[in-house]
Order: sequence, then structure tokens, then C-alpha cells
Amino acid sequence: MNTRPLNTASVDAPGLPEPLDWSPESWQAHEALQQPQYNDATELAEASAHLSRLPPLVTSWEVLALKQALAEAQDGHRFVLQGGDCAESFNDCTSPIISNRLKVLLQMSLVLVHGLKKPVLRVGRFAGQYAKPRSTDNETRDGVTLPSFRGDLINGQAFTPEARRADPQRLIQAHAHSALTMNFVRALIDGGFADLHHPEYWDLAWVESSPLAAEYREMVTNIGDSLRFMETLAGPIAGFSRVDFFTSHEALLLHYEQALTRQVPRHRGWFNLSTHFPWIGMRTAALDGAHVEYFRGISNPIAVKIGPTVTPEKLLPLIEALNPHDEPGRLTLIHRMGNAQIAEALPPLLQAVKREGRRVLWVADPMHGNTESTSNGHKTRRFNNIAGELDQAFDIHAAAGTRLGGVHLELTGEDVTECMGGARDLSETDLDRAYKSMVDPRLNYEQSLELAMLIVRKSVGSTSA
Ligand code: PEP
Ligand code: CO
Repeated sequence: MNTRPLNTASVDAPGLPEPLDWSPESWQAHEALQQPQYNDATELAEASAHLSRLPPLVTSWEVLALKQALAEAQDGHRFVLQGGDCAESFNDCTSPIISNRLKVLLQMSLVLVHGLKKPVLRVGRFAGQYAKPRSTDNETRDGVTLPSFRGDLINGQAFTPEARRADPQRLIQAHAHSALTMNFVRALIDGGFADLHHPEYWDLAWVESSPLAAEYREMVTNIGDSLRFMETLAGPIAGFSRVDFFTSHEALLLHYEQALTRQVPRHRGWFNLSTHFPWIGMRTAALDGAHVEYFRGISNPIAVKIGPTVTPEKLLPLIEALNPHDEPGRLTLIHRMGNAQIAEALPPLLQAVKREGRRVLWVADPMHGNTESTSNGHKTRRFNNIAGELDQAFDIHAAAGTRLGGVHLELTGEDVTECMGGARDLSETDLDRAYKSMVDPRLNYEQSLELAMLIVRKSVGSTSA
């Protein structure tokens, strides 16, 4: 499916050294937001030491191949599809949940490749998305106050003192669950699961009745016909039998990230080998904070989430700190403004970055600026707001002369009812039926596919594609 081969030639290039005044633990001298309180420093030190001896989850040459591919996306030669759960959980580390999520991402990327006529760079929000920023440190129920749930990497969701204690053993468990997830994804892909000759492998049981099924099937038939035609003329085309998949997560818990930050032979600098593509969340992107300090020293491609309170005066120093050499593929900015705010908040940022000639990849996250609560207490998002923000994002980039190079979505392959609207027009009462998210509401399979179709319709008609 990926007709533009990924380049691993840079693997033996020496690369940039880490900054002189940086080390994997130098973040500890800065203010680290959104970290739990561990009540036993020895236990944390022992778990970190154990983790730092375990094998990494990814390799430096994969990380460098992704950086190269992101550089190509910056130049308009690829489109990035980044998606997965808001929060992974250890319980959901199961065969059906992992393979269904992969199926949705593969189907969406098929729609995008077919419609955009360019390779799609697939990045999962998985194999490490186990830590969540929270709006408050504590939660109170019926007069009892306990630490907030911060994701399975840190503590448990049950409202008991034992579950909510920040437990260092979870660092090891998160690494193990990430490794299990990676192993299964790699095996599926290497075993032909992603073979374009067999898109029927990606069908989900409840797709048959989808209002979008006919449009999707027609596309699959068209692609199959073209493939057979080309292979009749040219013989089997190897590139169509497998795809590349990369992993990403919010690198929030810095003790975990530090323990998986490693040096490798034949390349200068340090790599975060817990994931290919870590990002800094909106709440932890302060210029003088611990997360920016940690990220500035690693050699991975990195992303930063930016919300409506970010001004050009804040953004430009952040770009300078994180990508001082203007390295291609190094820095992605994921804007998550909200449907109501994007028209005002985004243009000044695009203009400032363009004026300064900084090299970034712009990606839209139309999820996190559109979260609301219903009267019966569900956190939800309206499909129309998600689609609306994305629609505006394409137009705003086109007007600014910049390029929207990808999307960042929270989605699942399960038949959940967490976001309202979409082809089946899910309503507030539908949310009670299958609301399973631990944190933020996700697009279900149909809503995800519908969004992919909207992206194609939009960008085919727009100069920014
Ligand atoms: C997230 O991606 O789940 C998240 C918390 O995003 P943001 O940092 O943009 O709020
Ligand atoms: Co989220």
C-alpha cells in the first residue's frame, strides 16, 4: 500500500549530538507537571533501574525512517494518519481490541490513499498510551478524597486507596503490555494482514449494515481491479503486500521515558526507544518545564499539541528550543483548537511560523478542542464539530499558504457510542448503550471511516492537499 519506500539510509549517518547541557535526567531540575506522587523513592528507583535494563520497544533505525517520512509529509508527499485510543488500558490488551483498531486504521488509510493519491503514513496511538494528564490531582466522592486516576502506567481506576496509589511496578507492567501490543501488531503486519490483495481481512463484523458500506466496497473493488490490471502487466508488486506502522504516545511520565532513553551504536545522541514518535501534551508544553527539557535532547521526531491559548510569542521560542537546527521531519505541531475557536486561533500561528521560515509539519487534532459533557454526565464530542474543525483547518491552511499534512484522532474498532452524530446520528440517549472509554470519547468504526471520506472530499477540492 505504501508505494513510496521508507528510507533507512540515514541509519548510518552520524546524526546530531545531544545539546551540551542535556542528559536523560536533566528534566529533573525543571518543574514537572502532571507527575504522580510516589510515596516510596527506593521502590521507584528500583523499578526505574529494572526498566532501564529491559530491551527497548523500537529501534533507532525505525525512528530515523519515520523522521525521514515525516520530512516527506512536510513537503506534501505523504499524509499522516495518527490514531488510536485516548487511553490504552492493560485490560484492553487483547487480540480483538488490538486487531480491530488496526483494521479501522488500515481501512481509513485505504480510503485516504485512494482519495488523496499519495502515500499515507500510519502512526498508532498505541503500545504506550498509558498515562493521562488530569485537570485535578485528586477526586472526591461522597466525602472521600483520593488521587485522580492517571492511567494504567501510574495507578488503577477503582476508587480505593490501594488502586489509586501511584505504583512503580506499573512502569514494568506498562512496558510489558506495550511490548505485547507491538509484538502482535508486527506479527499481523508481517503475516500479510495488511496485504492490499486481501482487504476483506480488515472487515469488522458489524460493517455489513453500515450506511457507508456501499461506498467503501466500491472503493475496494476499484483498487482491486487496478491492482490486478497492473499485476497482469508487470507481475506481482511487492510494495502492496505489507505496510509500515509506527507507534506514538504522549510522553507524560518522565521516569518511564527516561528509563527507555538509550544510546545506540553508530549514531550520536540519545533515542527514546519506548516509541517512535512521542508527543508533548498541551498541559505540559511550558518552555521552561521538564517535558520540553527532556524532549529537546532526544533524537526522535517529536510533536507538540497546541491549543487556543498559544500565541506566536509562545510558539516561536518553543520551536527554537525543540528544533534549533530546523531539522526536516523533527517537529510536528498538532493543533487542537475546537470548532468554535480555530478560525481565530490558528491563522496567527500559521503566519508567524511561515514568516520565520520554520520547518514544521502541521497536523489537526479535531477531537480535544470539542469535548463537552451531557446532562447525564457523559463526556462526549459531536461529529459535526469534529468534522467542522477539520473542514475549517483545510481552508485556513490553504488561505495561509501552509499545508495541513495529517490528522490526529481518537478512535476505536469497537462498536462504541461515545461521540454523538455521524452516519447513524447517535444521540445523547445512545451514549448510555456502549460508552466504554476510560477517559475521552472516541470515534467508533463508522464515524472514523466517515471522517476519512470527508477528508478525501475536502482535500481533493482544496489546494492544500
Ligand atoms: C490527548 O491527546 O489525549 C490529550 C490529553 O490531548 P491534549 O494534550 O491535546 O489535551
Ligand atoms: Co484524549
